[in-house]
Amino acid sequence: MDRIFNASWIKAARQPGEAVVDFIKDFTVKPFPVKAELQISALGVYSCTINGKNVTSSVLNPGWTDYNKRIQYQTFDVTSLIGKENTIVIGTGIGWRFHKWYDLSSKTVTHKTVAVIASLSLTYENGEETVIYTDSSWLYKENKVRYNNMYNGETIDYTFRAKAPHPVSVLAYTKDTLIPQEGEYITEQEIIRGKKLYTTPEGDTVIDFGQELTGYISFYVKGKKGDTVKIRHFEMPDKNGNVYTENLRSAKQLLTVVCDGNSHLIKPVYTFYGFRYIAIEGMQVDSADEFTAIVVHSDMKRTGYFRCSDEMINQLFHNIIWGQKGNFLDVPTDCPQRDERLGWTGDAQVFCKVASYNFNVEKFFRKWMGDLRAMQKPSGTIPSFVPTKFDDDGGSSAWADVATILPWQMYLTYGNRELLEENYMLMKKWVDFMRKWALKKKPDEGISTNPYLYEGHWHFGDWLALDLPDKEAVEGATEKDIIGCAFFYYSTSLLIKASEVLGKDCKYYKNLYKNIKRAFIRKYIGDDGRISCNTQTACVLALHFGLYNEKEPLAKQLTELVNSYGHLTTGFVGTPYLLHVLSDIGETELAYKLLRRDEFPSWCYPITQGATTMWERWNGYKPDGTFATADMNSFNHYAYGAVGDWIYERMCGIRQKEGTAGFTDIVFAPETTQQFSFAEASIETANGTVSSKWENTASGIDFTFTVPQNTQAVAIISGKTYKLTTGINKISV
Ligand code: BGC
Repeated sequence: MDRIFNASWIKAARQPGEAVVDFIKDFTVKPFPVKAELQISALGVYSCTINGKNVTSSVLNPGWTDYNKRIQYQTFDVTSLIGKENTIVIGTGIGWRFHKWYDLSSKTVTHKTVAVIASLSLTYENGEETVIYTDSSWLYKENKVRYNNMYNGETIDYTFRAKAPHPVSVLAYTKDTLIPQEGEYITEQEIIRGKKLYTTPEGDTVIDFGQELTGYISFYVKGKKGDTVKIRHFEMPDKNGNVYTENLRSAKQLLTVVCDGNSHLIKPVYTFYGFRYIAIEGMQVDSADEFTAIVVHSDMKRTGYFRCSDEMINQLFHNIIWGQKGNFLDVPTDCPQRDERLGWTGDAQVFCKVASYNFNVEKFFRKWMGDLRAMQKPSGTIPSFVPTKFDDDGGSSAWADVATILPWQMYLTYGNRELLEENYMLMKKWVDFMRKWALKKKPDEGISTNPYLYEGHWHFGDWLALDLPDKEAVEGATEKDIIGCAFFYYSTSLLIKASEVLGKDCKYYKNLYKNIKRAFIRKYIGDDGRISCNTQTACVLALHFGLYNEKEPLAKQLTELVNSYGHLTTGFVGTPYLLHVLSDIGETELAYKLLRRDEFPSWCYPITQGATTMWERWNGYKPDGTFATADMNSFNHYAYGAVGDWIYERMCGIRQKEGTAGFTDIVFAPETTQQFSFAEASIETANGTVSSKWENTASGIDFTFTVPQNTQAVAIISGKTYKLTTGINKISV
């Protein structure tokens, strides 16, 4: 068992409000250990130094899990930091535990009590080992960070003088929930210098970093003793160019520094912000580059790239990448700025495919699937966001379906059967939940009693779709039961596929699958073959999941709807599949038209308004210069970035052969257009880089495909199949 399990949880004898607590231990070592290893975790977020040097370059440890069920601990090699006389300091902030939607149910600690647990083992050449554990011999003092909160920011007071250290209290808190680090560490990834310094019409001093990002700023504070510098972080100025913070809801996103007359390098440690702009008060600023923004996210390796002849689409791809950077912080969050920042299951489900092409997210999602398993209810349903403290039964279609869609997609991208094995019960229990629900007879509630339809459950619907007269309405016009039944069918299909890969009996589910389809068609598809709910999303789901007898009438219904509106109207549920379906029904040019459209509403409209990340809503900032309701209007929400998987798979044509996983068998089938002169994409797979490029020439189209080692590949161009070989393949037509 790891050493940390012999240590004790320690806390301040009196928690100093919302100030950061430093836990301190001085120790002397016999010269010199050949190895020193620190294991450490916290109820809160910690930063740790030994003799003034950071023990890790990662930040915001121990990350975010459902702390009632699991808390990650980290192991660091600290050999090079150890001297003869040593001091270890663990600064601990409240971190994600403050969350108004998250709390510890334990009576021994409130959600503002911070605590740490650690072991430091010192091993000598002869094999002898001594271990220092957190215990009652440790001391604590208050840190100059007088206030810390993930949503509201930090207050750093350089005039604060801590009292002499006090003995800590040992906390009787369980160690059963400790688990070794599972996810990717969150690290500082990029530094962006302030780009533009200006004064707003209302007189605020503002710096624009030119990129919406997640992280924090760094700068040298200047000021007389007692001066207070206040920095607000925000995403967008309003139409008059003034600071706009209403969409942050209750999140303050503030950094406050109280000066002591000396210059100090400022960088928050116990919080993060979602922003592109800062407004500075209380300090003279002469140049934008006095401030830098530090981008933080889970340390995922970038694997996917794309470029084409159209700068608008290149910017769209950039925004998709930044939507991912901004929201992959140990947990896949909906947004990084307002008082939410939660692991919304629907958003993650929608985006997970393109996420897995853009970056290697196998480890990141493997950890979060552990969170999902830990939070799945005994009934099989999944809360709407994870982690959560709500006693939330969730169960909304397209949100809870993360239970099947995410493990299956991770298997497809990485070809790792273990991901399916680990999550098989997660998938199965969710499908069983829907089946049990469908079997419940609820005639009193007027709910259909068909045992194969997942109806009558509460759902979010086609979130933020634009097909209701009220464009601020959130649920869209697509009947929720249609969404529920379609996803019941889809999730069952994925469970069958997973069962087949794992060699598990799935006769029951195959039968169920047939019956859902039959019941769906009987109830929702008319004699004319059209779906009863006349929305783009209803058609898209029926077509994408195969819920029809004949494709043509539905295809016609969909194209009529798109053409009559002249644009998409889909929300979170329909948008990820819309262009794929248009490609499938031979409407690739229409798909390109939607992709390239830049009037409202469209993927590119936000770019005409200067967007550098994906927006939550099609109408976040309207052509008339007004914002959508501040209640729900984030400018860094990755869900609509799901269109990126169409860019890789259809525009550039990098697809896997049906029935294979891990990019061992590739089918290049680019869908070219005359609208652009070239497009190219690459994905780094386990076998190496796969890439595809097409270019319109005077005489036709030139294709270049790169096939890595140990990979089978064909190209399908204008209906003709070409067998490809390892290395670069060129085809001209
Ligand atoms: C979140 C979404 C989420 C939704 C649930 C919102 O507040 O930001 O992205 O999926 O609630 O419908």
